[in-house]
Amino acid sequence: MCGIIGVIQSKGAVAPFLHQALKRLEYRGYDSVGVTTIAEGKLHTKKDEGKIEEVHRKLNLDDLPGTVGIGHTRWATHGMPSIYNAHPHFDCSHTIAVVHNGVVDNFLELKEELQSRGHKFESETDTEVIPHLIEEFMDGGLSLPDAVREVTRRIRGTYAIVAMTARSPDKIVCTRDGNPLVIGRRDGASYVSSDIPAFLPMTNNMILLLDGEIAILTADDVEIRKLSDGSIVTREAITISWTADQAQKGGYPHFMLKEIHEQPEAIRNTLRIRKDVFDSAAKIVASSRRVFMTAMGTSGHAALAGRHMFASFAGILPSFELASDFPDTVYDTLTTDDCVIAITQSGETSDTIFAVKHAKRLGAKVIAITNVVGSSVTRFADRIIITQAGPEIGVAATKTFMVQLTALALLALATGMLTQYRSREFIEAKYASLNTLPNIVSETIVRNEEVARQAAEKYYNRASFLFLGRGISIATALEGALKLKEISYNHAEGYSAGESKHGPIALVEDGFPVVFVAPNDATRDRLIGNIMEMKARGASILAVIERGDGDLKHLADDVFEIPEGVEPEFSTMAFVVPLQILSYYMATRRGHDPDKPRNLAKSVTVL
Ligand code: AGP
Repeated sequence: MCGIIGVIQSKGAVAPFLHQALKRLEYRGYDSVGVTTIAEGKLHTKKDEGKIEEVHRKLNLDDLPGTVGIGHTRWATHGMPSIYNAHPHFDCSHTIAVVHNGVVDNFLELKEELQSRGHKFESETDTEVIPHLIEEFMDGGLSLPDAVREVTRRIRGTYAIVAMTARSPDKIVCTRDGNPLVIGRRDGASYVSSDIPAFLPMTNNMILLLDGEIAILTADDVEIRKLSDGSIVTREAITISWTADQAQKGGYPHFMLKEIHEQPEAIRNTLRIRKDVFDSAAKIVASSRRVFMTAMGTSGHAALAGRHMFASFAGILPSFELASDFPDTVYDTLTTDDCVIAITQSGETSDTIFAVKHAKRLGAKVIAITNVVGSSVTRFADRIIITQAGPEIGVAATKTFMVQLTALALLALATGMLTQYRSREFIEAKYASLNTLPNIVSETIVRNEEVARQAAEKYYNRASFLFLGRGISIATALEGALKLKEISYNHAEGYSAGESKHGPIALVEDGFPVVFVAPNDATRDRLIGNIMEMKARGASILAVIERGDGDLKHLADDVFEIPEGVEPEFSTMAFVVPLQILSYYMATRRGHDPDKPRNLAKSVTVL
């Protein structure tokens, strides 16, 4: 939540780059935007409420002087979206500028204290205490890095902070605790940002900054020190494989549609991950007394589907607990004999990190499945599986969901090899089948895009939807409902079809749309019973079915067909695809931007 960027370069105006970098970070928040540069001993700022391009049309964000600058795209926590609350924020003399991602928990007491000493505040934000504190420390004789270090001793909460001052324009200082910051380096320029795509067009040489560290960036160098004792940290740059093109729309109208189409490639790339990565994690799963899975949102739905894979392939049924409630559900029952599989595409979700820290505190082993190298979750994990979706910019997770399912399938199969719950032939046949998924997903996209667009045309103005499935398809139904509600704002509920007759069926009246996820697995015949119940009450039936399933085709008003032969444990990977496309077209038909749904952000870094 909130995207931050800082750049210092030896030559060339920095403002156009800041503007473009913020656009690549806009998925992290988009209610206001601001940039500040330094030139001729002064700060120069443009900021306002609104999405980046709206503000740019009004203010021309490219038109600022200087080779050093910082920028911010905001997801409001403290204070409404407004020009005053937009970052950067300043000290009283307007010579110090700060952008911040996170929450300063004790800002009210700090603000009162600073106001009592004469500081004037311009915003309602928690962030603004930071530049005022820096001002006091610098007025007392400290350098910018030392002042920032002192500030970290005064503030409580989570933060990624980037600061600069016209008093010493040759550097940018940044620090973090609980929120992401990555550093980029190339000849004559240093970058710091919330996420890698921001500076990908300039460099793919990345240096991790960890919690409790401070970095001083100049155009020629980056120095990292520990906040605790000021000692120098030596850390090599990592070259990352993501390309700048991957973070562009590539001819698609929206990132979400592009990312849906990238799913076959994302699965293929994840299937290429070295086998020993899974074998080593599988050893932990197979030898644990109890196995838990934890995640939020779409990643939680991957976990729910993943449970079925572990049960079927390895004879292990992990418990799933929402990460936000993990400590309050699991209590202190975890021991060193247990393991927790944490799934988070961003690796930065505060709820998931919270759960993982709880597990680590009690000595449980943690296996992290994430799409981002060096993200926060990786620092707490005993084993790390990096999925290969490439950058996902659309706020609605699509291809990262697909690779989470792929990684869970590979981990469950590797675990099955160890537990020998099934024969080797059984497991090998499942591996072979998993390898066919990229083509199945490709075909599913091609066959269903127009069908989904037409269904969206028919149903876009319905107020409410039910998504129903049984067994593993409950996870698919939950994901279909989440996709729809988060980007099209139609109310949608995912439910067990079996449970639907115990309450939700009361909602159904003539024309009420009910979406059934109906693979040809052991649940099919009972699901037909549920379809009949809904039809009897006048529901309009949309069904995702296996191609050639004549009975189901006959029962449904609208059908999405999936190629035959998908193994039951992998059905979510194929059957969710038409639901992703349906939600995309519902959102666009209703005039909403599916890449930037209201009130949401790509990674949720508040508890
Ligand atoms: C997905 O479409 C959502 N935007 C959201 O539910 C997301 O899956 C959730 O916030 C978890 O994110 P993570 O995978 O980065 O932890």
